[in-house]
Amino acid sequence: MQMVSETFKANPDAPHCAPAAGSPKPLALYDGRGLRRFATMGGAYGNVPALAACVAHAKETGCDGFAFVGDATGCCGHSDETLALIHEHFPFLVAGNHEQKAATGEEDCGCNYAVPEDNRYGGIAHRLAMASLGEENRRWLGEWPDLALLRTDGGGLLLCHGSPAQTNEFLYESELDGARLEAWLDEFDAKGLVCGHSGLPWVRELPGGRFAVNCGVCGKPDHDHDAAVHYASLVWEEGGGWRPVIERVPYDHLAWADRLRAEGVDDVFTIPLRNGVWTCGVASLPPVERVLRPRPPGWLAAL
Ligand SMILES: [Fe+2]
Repeated sequence: MQMVSETFKANPDAPHCAPAAGSPKPLALYDGRGLRRFATMGGAYGNVPALAACVAHAKETGCDGFAFVGDATGCCGHSDETLALIHEHFPFLVAGNHEQKAATGEEDCGCNYAVPEDNRYGGIAHRLAMASLGEENRRWLGEWPDLALLRTDGGGLLLCHGSPAQTNEFLYESELDGARLEAWLDEFDAKGLVCGHSGLPWVRELPGGRFAVNCGVCGKPDHDHDAAVHYASLVWEEGGGWRPVIERVPYDHLAWADRLRAEGVDDVFTIPLRNGVWTCGVASLPPVERVLRPRPPGWLAAL
């Protein structure tokens, strides 16, 4: 890890992001110089085939770097299998609430939902995840930083799970505060910010060619009747700079949902994998995000 910029304003040794559990860690500094297209993913939730499909899609489209912004484990179980994929492909890591709770051994998910029932389902998901997590991986999750700055040829990119201030803060598109996004970029002398956690991808362009992007989640659909999952590519633009692109990735979701059901995973977690519509977490969304998104072309044939 190296210092990133002479104009870097924040003290890298000071904790910056409040974790969902455990003690805050210093900012991690990653060297991404030379990257020309890279993938940012999060929220695998133990969905091994969906994560594998996203990695394959990213490789096919020429990604030469991979960042994972947390919540590797969750409602699908299969934690150690998922972490093996992440260990193999992702050099740039940031912890989500699931990693932080796993590392401290707590039983709740730390998702920070607005509605208690959603947190109850989140706790069930987290306990499913812990049942398939080995001790060596649990210790590894405890090493993931809360916040990272990736140095690239197009400037610094701030990688966080929920927000740069708080691991389990939800940054919803309908509630974005542009001034707050810009203040974070100013603080870290960054060109862009990548977050996840909410499961709902978005891109927000900011003045001066800067941007914020929620990369969505690669382990479950985004509540739009489409079972495909999402991640974000950062694409190098001629002349310098990054363009964020939300990627949609289909996979064999019905086979995976059938397998989880056979393994005893509750329907509340497998139904969204089948039809792309959330069964929990919806009541905690802001009014705009709570409304189902328009059905994409071909959604019926894909069921
Ligand atoms: Fe999360």
